[in-house]
Amino acid sequence: MTVLHVENIGGGYSEVDILKGVELQVSVGEIVTVVGTNGAGKSTLIKAVMGLLPRLAGRILWEGQDIARASTERRLNTGIGYVPQVANVFASLTVHDNLLVVQGVPEVRRRAAEMFELFPALQPLAQRRAGALSGGERQQLAFAMALMSRPRLICLDEPTAALSPALVKTVFDQIVRLPELGCAVLMVEQRAREALQISQRGYIMDQGRVAMSGPAAGLLDDPRAVELYLGHEA
Ligand SMILES: Nc1ncnc2c1ncn2[C@@H]1O[C@H](COP(=O)(O)OP(=O)(O)O)[C@@H](O)[C@H]1O
Ligand SMILES: [Mg+2]
Repeated sequence: MTVLHVENIGGGYSEVDILKGVELQVSVGEIVTVVGTNGAGKSTLIKAVMGLLPRLAGRILWEGQDIARASTERRLNTGIGYVPQVANVFASLTVHDNLLVVQGVPEVRRRAAEMFELFPALQPLAQRRAGALSGGERQQLAFAMALMSRPRLICLDEPTAALSPALVKTVFDQIVRLPELGCAVLMVEQRAREALQISQRGYIMDQGRVAMSGPAAGLLDDPRAVELYLGHEA
């Protein structure tokens, strides 16, 4: 069953179109990865899904409802989670308090405790100010904050950017578990091969368009995809 259907969307930050007719779907239980060259429009696509793009044409169906004109807050409240490319945490609050201040979450303390189970590295840091965390720890906290509301879809923009190789594996391992928790994943990644290896399907973007798409295993085996987009890791 399709949960998210991005239907032929266009738009951008000004009168210039950055997205030029992008079509994409995510089904229940899926991990879908979007890869592509720098500046292809991957972050812009995620922003469009989250209602953060100033100008947008086309429809975005979320569980069958068109949310293309809904506010970001409404999208978050209807079950879409978001971890931006630059981790958004409250630097002056402790790790624990960052989890407790997530809006609209019932049984917030119990959910926070669940997050410490899901992200054990955060447990010993619970009383530390988020501003004192390393980049990788902050990324995990932003991830945990997005999961507090138990979203049915989470949008991740380069979740492993700037992480050490050991942490990259940890984050990918955490992403793999999300569908079991009832949360489908739409992620943008620079680490194209590694991301596709844990995905069911992939999209390759180039200059605001979907250049190629299909089962992730097929893209990883496609000579043209490998030559043009997947040949070397960033
Ligand atoms: N806030 C912004 N205002 C204007 N142009 C932007 C903004 N963010 C991104 N762009 C432009 O949109 C294009 C796509 O950017 P982006 O979606 O960030 O690419 P990617 O995430 O694939 O690297 C680029 O040409 C970039 O310069
Ligand atoms: Mg980007």
